[in-house]
Parts: sequence; C-alpha cells; structure tokens
Amino acid sequence: MTLRKRSLYLRGHGRDNAHMAPTDSPIPITRARGPRDVRGRPMHDLRISVMDRCNFRCTYCMPRETYHERYRFLKSAERLSFDEIVRIARLFVALGVRKLRITGGEPLLRPNLADLVGDLTTLAGVEDVALTTNGVLLAKYASELKAAGLDRVTVSLDSIDPQVFRALSGDFDELDAVLEGLEHAQRAGLTPIKVNAVIQRGINDAGALDLAARFRGTGVSVRFIEYMDVGNRNQWTPELVVPSSELHARIHARWPLVPRGRSYVGEVADHYAYADGQGEIGFISSVSQPFCGDCSRARLSSDGALYTCLFATHGLDLRAPLRAGASDEELLAIIRGRWSQRADRYSELRATQRAAAAPERKVEMNYIGG
Ligand code: GTP
Ligand code: 5AD
Ligand code: SF4
Ligand code: SF4
Repeated sequence: MTLRKRSLYLRGHGRDNAHMAPTDSPIPITRARGPRDVRGRPMHDLRISVMDRCNFRCTYCMPRETYHERYRFLKSAERLSFDEIVRIARLFVALGVRKLRITGGEPLLRPNLADLVGDLTTLAGVEDVALTTNGVLLAKYASELKAAGLDRVTVSLDSIDPQVFRALSGDFDELDAVLEGLEHAQRAGLTPIKVNAVIQRGINDAGALDLAARFRGTGVSVRFIEYMDVGNRNQWTPELVVPSSELHARIHARWPLVPRGRSYVGEVADHYAYADGQGEIGFISSVSQPFCGDCSRARLSSDGALYTCLFATHGLDLRAPLRAGASDEELLAIIRGRWSQRADRYSELRATQRAAAAPERKVEMNYIGG
C-alpha cells in the first residue's frame, strides 16, 4: 500500500517492527519545531477518536434518551479513513506529538482497527500507542492488536457490582465480558493496563473500594476519575462529584497508600502505591484540582476536527482541506496556527463559567473520546 511510502519518516525507536512490510522505506524530512500555545504548552499527546458509535449507552456519556435508534451518527464517509488518520497523525508527530491514544465512542467497533494500529506504530518518533475501550470486544481483538504493535489498553469500568454496572452502562449485562476482555489483554501483554472508573456520588461511590479490591495485586491500576461536565447531555451537577481527597481517605484507611506523583509532565492521573506492595492506583481530579497548566493534549474527532480542549465548543475542520488536496506543509501550517492560538483552561475556569450565562454547546464525549 502507498501509505507508508507517503510517510514523512518512519520510526526507529526500538519497537518490534516485525509487522512492517519489508518494502517500507523511510522518506526522511526535517522534523518541524513544535508550536507552543499562548500559555507556553507544547503539543505532546494526540487522542484520535475513530468511531462515534458505542455498544454501551452509559448514562453520563451517551444516554439512551438522546442516543436512541434513530440518532444520526456519522456516515462512514464522514469519518476519516485510516489513510487520512495516519496522514494527520504523522503531521502531529512532526509537530512534537509523542503519544497517540485511540478512542471512540467505542474504537473496537471500527472494522479492522488493527490495521490502523499497525500504521500508527510505524511512525518514527511515536513512543506510545494506547487504546481506551469499554473492554467488551477485547477478548476477540487483544492478541490481534498486540501483534499489530499496540502498546497498552485502558479499560473503562465504573463498577464490579453487576446491577450497578448494568444501570450505568445503559442496561447492558456485559460485566463478565469486560472482565474477560481485561484478562485477554493481560495475557496478550497489552500492559500496563489501567482501569478508568468515573465515580458519581450516590450512584457508584459505595463500590469504589470493591473496585480497588478486585484489581489489587493483579498488575492492573485503577484510576478514579472525578465526574466531569463533559458535553451537554449528562445532567452533571457539582453534587455528583466525589472529590479525590475523599476517595483517597477512604481507600487509605483500608489499605495505606504511598504518594508516587505523576510519571510524566502533563499526566492527568496522580499515582499512589499500596504500602503493602499490591500495586498502585491513580486519581484524575480535573474538578477539584485542575491540571490545565500542563495540558499538552490535542484531540482529533472521528470526522476530522481538531479540538484543543475536552470542553471545547468548536473544532477546527482538518478533513475539508485534507480532502481538498492540501499539501503537508499547508496542513502543518493550519495545525501549528491553531495550536499557537490555544488558550484553553476550562477546568480552571469551571466555577466562574458555570456561574455565567448559559455556556455554548460543548463537544460531546463520543466524538472526542475523553
Ligand atoms: P495515560 O497515557 O495512561 O496517562 O492515559 P490518559 O490519562 O492520557 O488517557 P485516558 O483516556 O485514560 O484518560 C483518562 C481520563 O482522564 C479521560 O477519559 C478523561 O476523562 C480525563 N482526561 C484525560 N485528558 C484530560 C484533559 O486533558 N482534561 C481533562 N479535564 N480531563 C482529561
Ligand atoms: N466525566 C469523567 N470521565 C468521563 N468519561 C466519560 N464521560 C466522563 C465524564 N463525564 C470517561 C470514560 C472513559 C473515558 C474515555 O472518559 O469513563 O474512561
Ligand atoms: Fe461508550 Fe465509553 Fe461513552 Fe460508555 S463512556 S457510552 S463505553 S464511549
Ligand atoms: Fe486541557 Fe481543557 Fe482539560 Fe484543561 S480542561 S486539562 S485545557 S483538556
């Protein structure tokens, strides 16, 4: 295929290149200097949503009332093709991105996703390719994804109580499938595996310790996420947020925790190790302790728009120039220009913004994958 021949440059950073075709040859270019936004933040991570659909209807993300049978999801032709995604990702890498995360909706609903993984992992300079999934299809795809070069997976799982799981996922009885998927991912070596648990007061906070207990000593790290006001449809109220400090106190009282901090600049989770050596957990505290100051994440929606914040109201359409035949240089200038103007710090401003007049419509989670 022509894709890799078009690559600006191919990787040479010690990954297992076994799945690359022997005919692939690097076409080097000079690596462009990465832009800084108005707050001096570089672009380091690119989160790529490959699918706006999901096989769950989590109440806080894709409530059934809105995402019903007649909801108009994107048509296939509206979604970026794999070639288009790889081309855009390659340009972001040239501008400094080192981490790629594939998200959705549910990314494993995108047919042949392993092909995309294989292409993304051939981009030189990419140090980490991860996938965020609800886990249901991992039993089927884990080994194929690993063989394609995927480094690791993060699985969204908010409760290990079957009733609570069912209620939160929109009436899907798939807890066992998710747990089985996690085991397959572990066996395939898609590690370190993380579990993302969004905690809501009065909904699943009572089960937080059970979730921690289930994964203690397994090598899987649970990250407790404060419930955020993403999108416009999830009925968020501040009362539903359980501050990480409260959850930390409860867990620490049961299993003493030792602070480990963040493992890289801009990491969203703050880590703690169990003092008894049974692994670690993390807290993502975007509401009580915003981390906008180090935010280096760009987000690409499944229809090819660039969002510079999880709470953005507008994205910059990259698909139109791409499909109109823009050159790499033109696209680089567009991306660089947008990032250079970026001033986002929604979580820092949350309190005052909510007090202000009705906010503009924010992008929905299933378009940009968290
Ligand atoms: P690692 O690479 O393992 O550090 O993963 P990650 O934390 O970058 O990715 P993941 O998809 O697991 O993110 C966890 C959750 O943190 C997301 O689903 C969001 O809910 C939240 N999150 C991630 N990035 C941001 C961000 O830039 N701003 C805010 N407010 N929340 C974020
Ligand atoms: N607040 C916090 N996290 C959320 N996620 C989805 N919606 C929200 C929200 N409102 C999480 C999912 C998944 C990740 C992509 O984002 O649970 O782990
Ligand atoms: Fe699907 Fe994840 Fe949204 Fe749940 S949170 S509906 S699993 S995309
Ligand atoms: Fe980054 Fe926006 Fe999240 Fe702040 S609120 S950390 S700017 S994505």
